[in-house]
Amino acid sequence: MISIETPGDKSISHRTLILATLAAGPSTVQGILRSVDVRATAEAMRQLGASIREEGDETRIGGQVQWRAPEEEIDCGNSGTTARLLLGLLAGLGIQAVIRGDASLSRRPMDRVVYPLQAMGARIRYLESDGRLPLALDARRSGSLRSLRHRPRMASAQVKSCILLAGLAGRIRVEVSEARATRDHTERLLDAMGAAIAVDRSTDGGAVVSLEPDRKPAGLSPLRLRVPGDFSSAAFLLAAGWLGAGEVQVLRVGLNPTRTGLLDVAREMGARFDLVEEGFEAREPTGRVRAMPSRLRGFDVDSRALPHLVDEIPVLAVLAARAVGVSRIRGAEELRLKESDRLAVLAGNLGRLGVRCRERADGLEIEGTDAPLAGRVRCAGDHRIAMAFGALGAAPGCRISVDEASCVSISYPSFWQDLERISGSEAA
Ligand code: S3P
Repeated sequence: MISIETPGDKSISHRTLILATLAAGPSTVQGILRSVDVRATAEAMRQLGASIREEGDETRIGGQVQWRAPEEEIDCGNSGTTARLLLGLLAGLGIQAVIRGDASLSRRPMDRVVYPLQAMGARIRYLESDGRLPLALDARRSGSLRSLRHRPRMASAQVKSCILLAGLAGRIRVEVSEARATRDHTERLLDAMGAAIAVDRSTDGGAVVSLEPDRKPAGLSPLRLRVPGDFSSAAFLLAAGWLGAGEVQVLRVGLNPTRTGLLDVAREMGARFDLVEEGFEAREPTGRVRAMPSRLRGFDVDSRALPHLVDEIPVLAVLAARAVGVSRIRGAEELRLKESDRLAVLAGNLGRLGVRCRERADGLEIEGTDAPLAGRVRCAGDHRIAMAFGALGAAPGCRISVDEASCVSISYPSFWQDLERISGSEAA
């Protein structure tokens, strides 16, 4: 059996780099993910005046930043989390800036964060097309934002975190009501820093998150933590294990229940795994998960399950391709707005490999097969598409190549080496 320590959690890494700059002193953090997306956030924070220094596995982030308007445009690359969280921070600080991204990010909707920020009084203009990057924030007197109660129309941790950051940096009260609770890393980190954050969970899976302006004379506490491994990266390795590439154990991986919805579906599919919770890092439960080759059954996933497995739909699609029976993913129209239109790209690639797959407006219907699968996958520059088909390609009887294998550097630069360790095969 192969044991692999998954690289640091991407969501927590972005948040740590941003939140630590608002602390009263320097933070020291281990295990921040070193990937292209997270580098975009670190670079943006440096442009705004933050000090971020990397030494080995450690990152030192200065607090009490002397904020400045960036001289150059801020380029978020492919990273939606960078763009949306940064917008909240900049709106709260009242800093003038232009934000842009690559072609994929420039197709993704920004109105979901721009609208609530404008309702708070932020001045934001789209520079090319409505609702999309690039956009410009105008300077504003600090302390002049209005407090906000917001109920996003879609389940989105990025929208929630954007508003919390605007409230924190703008020193106003904000409240976000979620019909279905999304990943709560921002809340956990704010709590660790001593911010006045409250989370009221309802029995039907919703949550109301509120943040009061910071009144502590000492300010927010610096962060001292180790970022847990990214469950969404581990998911591809577990999938390779279940698909029969070889038994694998992922170590010190984050097991925050708002992220591990895949395991509930895996259980329903008959996937064999052991999970051992080992403790807490960064206020997040962590542990190890061991996946064994399994005979899989089809599954049903709907919108209620989605927030806790939103990044795992590509993994579920390739598991479905090898499961007995038909699997259905519904209520997942948000997947069309990710790094690629994941429903279309998954359906196109599964079809190309010979898997019967029907694309619906809000999901997929996939008929599993044990026939040999072979072909070249077009991943549309989407890291999670590349890794999902990498995992499928490592399964016995499959020969799959991926057209832009290097795009895994967005979130998991060592993915192909780790996969190779499990399967011992030529994966990419
Ligand atoms: C993320 C939230 C999710 C997820 C993305 C990272 C985050 O997006 O898909 O990969 O770090 O907050 P949405 O909040 O838009 O669903």
